Amino acid sequence: MHRRQINHVIDATAGLGRDAMVLAQLGCAVTAIERVPALCFLLQVAAKECDAAIKVLCAEAEPWLREHNVAAGRPEVVYLDPMFAAIGKAQVKKEMQACRALAGAPTDAHALLTAAREVAQDRVVVKRHPRHEPLASDVSFEVKSDRVRFDVYLPA
Ligand SMILES: C[S@@+](CC[C@H](N)C(=O)[O-])C[C@H]1O[C@@H](n2cnc3c(N)ncnc32)[C@H](O)[C@@H]1O
Repeated sequence: MHRRQINHVIDATAGLGRDAMVLAQLGCAVTAIERVPALCFLLQVAAKECDAAIKVLCAEAEPWLREHNVAAGRPEVVYLDPMFAAIGKAQVKKEMQACRALAGAPTDAHALLTAAREVAQDRVVVKRHPRHEPLASDVSFEVKSDRVRFDVYLPA
């Protein structure tokens, strides 16, 4: 089977950067966007410590994606994990509690998805809780486990 090489992924909701780190370890050049300065700082330190191919930007992702649509070169993939899933408190790790407290109110994830779909050359991947509705109805396909679902949107 031919597997398309993915070079550049924008993780537009980077948080603590765990997903960005996985993507970088898989060989992607990752641009990680996070709007909370404290989380950006932690992610910058982690990326440097791990010598990971992650460029960390402290910004609101939706306007950034719109502004940099052409100028920065369009990424193959935009990855979104915009919301903390509402799961039982006992299951939430301490680091996630801290991240949740810092992140504040949830973003307009639908607007973020629209901006991402205008930029991504190949696909947009949205991480969701398995019980939550997709952000848009025209999901191309999904990859699902007990704990997480990835909704994949291919270009029209
Ligand atoms: C669920 S966490 C992401 C966790 C991340 N995938 C990880 O592996 O650590 C969501 C993060 O996205 C950030 N975020 C949400 N909407 C954003 C936006 N419009 N622009 C930039 N960051 C955003 C929040 O501040 C929060 O840190």
